[in-house]
Amino acid sequence: MTTTTRIAAVTGAVGSARTRVEGRDKVTGAARYAGEIPFAELAHGWLVLSTVARGRIRSVDDAPVLAMPGVLTVLHHGNAPRVETDYVGMLGRPNPVLGIFQHDRVPFVGWPVALVVAETSEQAREAVEALVVRYDEEPHDVAFFAGHPSAYTPQDNPMLQAETEKGDVEAQLDASPVVVDEEYTTPEEHHNPMEPHAATARWDGGRLDVVDSNQGSTWVASELAQLFSLDPASVRVRSEHVGGAFGSKGLSPHQVAAVMATTVLHRPVRVVLTRRQMFSLVGFRSPTAQRIRLGADADGRLRAFDHQALSLTSTVHEFIESSAVLGRVMYDADAHHTLHRLVRLDVPTPAWMRAPGEAPGSFALESALDELAAKCGMDPIALRARNEPETGPVSGLPFSSRNVLACFEEGARRFGWADRDPRPGLRREGRWLLGTGTAAATYPSGVGPSTAAVTAESDGTFTVRINAADIGTGARTAMTLVAADALEVDPDRIRVRIADSDLGPAMFAGGSMGTRSWAWAVTVAADELRERLSPGGGIPPEGITARSNTAEAIGALAKKERHSFGAQFAEVAVDVATGEVRVRRLLGIYAAGTIVNPLTARSQFIGGMTWGLSMALHEEAIRDRASGGHVGADLAGYHFAAHADVPLIEADWVDDPVPDDPVGIKGIGEIGVVGVAAAIANAVWHATGVRHRDLPIRPDRVLRAADGARHRAAEGARNA
Ligand code: MOS
Repeated sequence: MTTTTRIAAVTGAVGSARTRVEGRDKVTGAARYAGEIPFAELAHGWLVLSTVARGRIRSVDDAPVLAMPGVLTVLHHGNAPRVETDYVGMLGRPNPVLGIFQHDRVPFVGWPVALVVAETSEQAREAVEALVVRYDEEPHDVAFFAGHPSAYTPQDNPMLQAETEKGDVEAQLDASPVVVDEEYTTPEEHHNPMEPHAATARWDGGRLDVVDSNQGSTWVASELAQLFSLDPASVRVRSEHVGGAFGSKGLSPHQVAAVMATTVLHRPVRVVLTRRQMFSLVGFRSPTAQRIRLGADADGRLRAFDHQALSLTSTVHEFIESSAVLGRVMYDADAHHTLHRLVRLDVPTPAWMRAPGEAPGSFALESALDELAAKCGMDPIALRARNEPETGPVSGLPFSSRNVLACFEEGARRFGWADRDPRPGLRREGRWLLGTGTAAATYPSGVGPSTAAVTAESDGTFTVRINAADIGTGARTAMTLVAADALEVDPDRIRVRIADSDLGPAMFAGGSMGTRSWAWAVTVAADELRERLSPGGGIPPEGITARSNTAEAIGALAKKERHSFGAQFAEVAVDVATGEVRVRRLLGIYAAGTIVNPLTARSQFIGGMTWGLSMALHEEAIRDRASGGHVGADLAGYHFAAHADVPLIEADWVDDPVPDDPVGIKGIGEIGVVGVAAAIANAVWHATGVRHRDLPIRPDRVLRAADGARHRAAEGARNA
């Protein structure tokens, strides 16, 4: 019997809706975030970022600033401690971006050129304003566009196989009676969590102690140890409460700067990023230009599949937005090709941002499927059903479970899809044109090795120790429920300790892998503990502790295609006279394994879907070609969905048992955003008859498209 079936059968904590165990602390302000935990003798660091996009630092005129009130030091490339960036970190390759203050080169606007440390953050900021940094500027290039002449195919990138190829795509396209060949673009997007990045570093009895806001303190501690050539055991990183992360909270220059400063000053140093600084220091989603070619028989069966995605990276590090990976999971064809290409520009390195790859990739691919359905005169859901693969289209491996059609079936039923007239531009309500659209969603269900400890205390309670990160997801609560079922006790008897690298190594909260990875380790330790507790036997004052390490078990996991799936549905109203698009309804149905806590899971899905709406209609960071920096790098200039933009959003799930899986939990953190922008764009097409292949679908684009359609109609009338 699998762990999950035993769990559900005995106590049923997993699957019951629970409010967050730390919820009261959060709403009363008792929960402290990294930037507000007090330390005696705390000094405040403020980063100085470059104002040029490329060149060399000629001078940092620190002398006048050092004389200002409260200023303790100014660190820069001329005086900062050396660090070792030539190690393999989380991105699989050395990341020179972490080597701040090590050289005089400036690779983008917003590169850290100095850190001013003062007694108060106000004094530090005032000194930063006064600090003069001179540069020898060089010409820069920040312009991203389809067909960029210096695009290249990444070779041996440790994170991603750039290209997959099967059969002769050109021949199959030639032989296809129906062909879609279109280009889609998505803009630069930013993940700016509510809580800005903040780190406080200090030396404490020979150990480096960092209080931080991150997605994984094992990760941050391990990389800080390597950067500063420290014994890993002498680094402790804690990250008790995190106000959002979305892929942006790994290791960034501010933690490195804080460690440098505390090393120099021998007192605790805190560095907090401003929101403006976050736009250049903590990663972002690359813009993409994607070309999709689909060749099909008249009945919609795919003969040719080609998805080519271009994204950007910096001149200092290689990051691939993996937009073309969806087809490797979703759709098979006689000939199949996926390709990622990159262009290096004088911009910061992009990073993981919620559903990296799948979010922009699904806009292009699931739009193209909708275009193919229209060309074949087919229902878009029927088209997807016709192309359901038996095994992984590229890997040939079996799926651990694949219930995407069940999601479409349940979604169609609840959304009222059966009544839909597939012809576009027919439904009108006053000034509004109405339309509906759908799209598939998928995201990998990965897992990472983790350790956990579960202690039976002498007072009848249990303590679970797992270095999980709760980035707003409800991880503490989820682990409480998992442990309750594994121990067969009431959740009230369990306390969960997380977010401290001293708890032992564990997976970070990323790639939708956290809950799956931690639940596995907690369950193994709890099982072991139950075996050691004899019925009626006493428990010594120090308790009885069992430990687990899932590395070996994960290594032995059968190779399969393991993914979450989903179906997104959208209804929109479009006013073509003003260009306004309103989303009226969103429905997402998911197949994501065991849902641990329906309350927080639904929040996760709805959060992702809201982001998808925002991506479809609002979000876009604008880079100024002349300066190389952003225009409006703040949450006023970077437009995203507000309450008034967000309609009723419903999220639910279908049963998704994973027969051979020891955990049965898949990831849910990212799949909510996947496919939503396509479902909305498809609905806009259904409402207006006009395809939007460039995000966001701004009012001016809707107006231009409507003008174009009117113009073509008038031309047609003249020529008739
Ligand atoms: Mo997620 S973008 O892997 O934190």
